[in-house]
Amino acid sequence: MNITAKTLPLGVIGHPVAHSVSPEIHNFILDCLEMNYFYGAYHVLPENLGDAIRGARALGIRGLNVTIPHKEEVIKFCNELDPYAQKIGAVNTVVNRMGVLKGYNTDAPGFIANLDRSGVSVEGKNVVILGAGGAAKGVAAAVLESGAARVRVVNRTHAKAEKLASELHDRRIEAAESAAGAQILINTTSVGMKSDATPFERFDLLAPDCVVCDIVFCPRETALLRMAAENGFKTVGGIGMLIYQAVIAFELFTQKNVGEDIIDRLFRRLEMNHNIVLTGFMGCGKSAVGRELAQMTGSELIDCDDYIVKTTGLTIPEIFDREGESGFRSIESRCIGELSRRKGVVISLGGGAVLRRENIDLLRENSYVIRLKADVEKILRNTSGDTSRPLLKGKSRPEIEAMLDYREPYYANCDYTVDVSQMYPNRTAKKILDLVTESKKFS
Ligand code: ATR
Repeated sequence: MNITAKTLPLGVIGHPVAHSVSPEIHNFILDCLEMNYFYGAYHVLPENLGDAIRGARALGIRGLNVTIPHKEEVIKFCNELDPYAQKIGAVNTVVNRMGVLKGYNTDAPGFIANLDRSGVSVEGKNVVILGAGGAAKGVAAAVLESGAARVRVVNRTHAKAEKLASELHDRRIEAAESAAGAQILINTTSVGMKSDATPFERFDLLAPDCVVCDIVFCPRETALLRMAAENGFKTVGGIGMLIYQAVIAFELFTQKNVGEDIIDRLFRRLEMNHNIVLTGFMGCGKSAVGRELAQMTGSELIDCDDYIVKTTGLTIPEIFDREGESGFRSIESRCIGELSRRKGVVISLGGGAVLRRENIDLLRENSYVIRLKADVEKILRNTSGDTSRPLLKGKSRPEIEAMLDYREPYYANCDYTVDVSQMYPNRTAKKILDLVTESKKFS
């Protein structure tokens, strides 16, 4: 991307906003279409929302996405409202046309577009929505609009489900206590986000052909979806809704069609049906690159050494002192075996894990294994003074070079090698995502 005086600004506002995947999605589409826009993320506190929107208008920002907690409040700063956004009472997209700001909601059509992509139709179906917050209202409006026969809202706080159902003014929707007979079950609660909790377990109540959907996308396979699949139900994850709401917003901002090919590439980039495993010598920057990758894709980062420390209750130097290197390697292999069964995560591997070929072979079955290659200068810079790496203790430069030479052949069966000597972690992360996007390995 080449930013010039003619580059047009787009962005997302939220509080917090640093975790947002929207910049990754929009800037990728802009790159694909070679359009001269830039999409940034702006942290806006609730008390500054009015100033931010007035500032965006004054600066000629072409379009803004709006995320938590501003989706309702932003309405009063819009000049016009799309009828659908009005109905839902929430705006996630503001388009600036010559100083006139119009608010839209692309979350709800994004949800339906994602179902379409999975070959699922809600028309004539018996739908159950778990949760009664802002997200539930958008999903409920969307499924009603798409012709659902019946919609039940099941929520921990029943009164909120009743309130939601009455606000949508449609005889097909009601608050309920049970999901019995559901043909489509949709979780809109936050249960399962960054945890292994599930908001629903009574799979025996569902219709045999029920499709179970989750709008939570981190982890990619929530406990709800995993259990639904184990019980034989078709599942639809939340990342597709995120992709489609962005695509629809992008088309509103720019009046350009995104096209199926780019949408397919976005899915390959972000769906994470696989893991991304980072390997490489100590000090090559696996943790920093892993953090960037997890942030850009909105997925979970697991540091294998942290996982070992958590499961054994010992520090790495303590394991080396007690068990020696071979004892440590056995524990490491066991932990890698456990991690290899995960799905949709970024894993940062200890530098020596490659020494056992079976570790990499196992991980490669459902992961892209990426080797980060750094020159000795970078490794020395990054590891000097670090006492948590027993294998480097007291080592001179020639000794480290000899270790690098010795390990070199072990990296041969990684999927990709990325030279990080001259690259910042965010550039490296982008390069890795580009490799994954164009890869045919899991297609
Ligand atoms: P959003 O705008 O993202 O939908 P929200 O308005 O805070 O967020 O709504 C969160 C929803 O998740 C609510 O339906 C909430 O239930 P309550 O109305 O009873 O609070 C639901 N939720 C959150 N944590 C939950 C939990 N641990 N168990 C069950 N439901 C939960």
